Amino acid sequence: MLVTTKEMFKKAYDGGYAIGAFNVNNMEIIQGITEAANELNSPLILQVSKGAREYANHTYLVKLVEAANILYPNIPIALHLDHGDSFELCKSCIDGGFTSVMIDLSGKSFEENVEGTKKVVEYAHERGVVVEAELGTLAGIEDEVNVEEGKQSYTDPSTVEEFVAKTNCDSLAIAIGTSHGAYKFKPGTKPQLRFDILEEVSKRIPGFPIVLHGSSSVPKEFVDMVNQYGGNMPGAVGVPEDQLRHAAELSVCKINIDSDIRLAMTGNIRKYFAEHPDHFDPRQYLKPARAAVKAMVAHKIKNVLGCANKI
Ligand code: G3H
Ligand code: 13P
Ligand code: ZN
Repeated sequence: MLVTTKEMFKKAYDGGYAIGAFNVNNMEIIQGITEAANELNSPLILQVSKGAREYANHTYLVKLVEAANILYPNIPIALHLDHGDSFELCKSCIDGGFTSVMIDLSGKSFEENVEGTKKVVEYAHERGVVVEAELGTLAGIEDEVNVEEGKQSYTDPSTVEEFVAKTNCDSLAIAIGTSHGAYKFKPGTKPQLRFDILEEVSKRIPGFPIVLHGSSSVPKEFVDMVNQYGGNMPGAVGVPEDQLRHAAELSVCKINIDSDIRLAMTGNIRKYFAEHPDHFDPRQYLKPARAAVKAMVAHKIKNVLGCANKI
């Protein structure tokens, strides 16, 4: 049985750690992530974006996650919709086996965000599904999540109590300086998350689970690998791992990671192709890519999230 995030967030909040929410798009990514979580006895959130659902198909992804759940019955796994942008999309995932959904109306007015989130919460709660909402918008460019640089805004802590009380959401994503994608901070500048905002938010809604999007650390090792083997990603910079660790010790219970998975796979596939120009069996190059995802996720669980042996 897939679980909701309710119990994992309560334990994470009290224990000063966070659960990794990893974006999944295909079998190898799901295998790499779940093998790592299983070996480290870690709770896990596997999340599916609208784009992932369009790419791989809802049923394929649900069945792959259910397969991982059968293979690793000892670790709690939640299946979450990432950045749901409409009631219909959330409903389809709630009806279709997800245990958690995000309704992201952070680009709308406060009132529209409240109304739209409330509607999803009512539908989800009646069916035992939990809901993540968002206040404040992140910068960064993804296929389906696109906020122009300069248009992002930090979350205003004075709005969170009213938002949570009115919507009855189960967790809240806030903007404290992270952004989506591989280019989060200007190269040469010192990345710094706004922990003052995070602490102010937590003071106003104590015990309430906070979510950090855009939390890839963009490991130099993978960026160098991409660039060494024919790629071109100058100036890719992520969130320093020590700052993510600190956020996890505070009220952040869910840390979203997608770009690091993309980088781990792409770097290793590029390397494999460069070293084996005559190979053409996808199993040959997806194998090291899957192993790299597993090693990267294991590192996060042990050294950044702090959720090893927390089942
Ligand atoms: O936050 C967005 C995730 O990285 C998903 O990206 O919409 O390209 O699947 P995607
Ligand atoms: P990254 O682009 O930093 O991996 O963020 C992923 C994310 O927030 C998914 O919702
Ligand atoms: Zn996100």
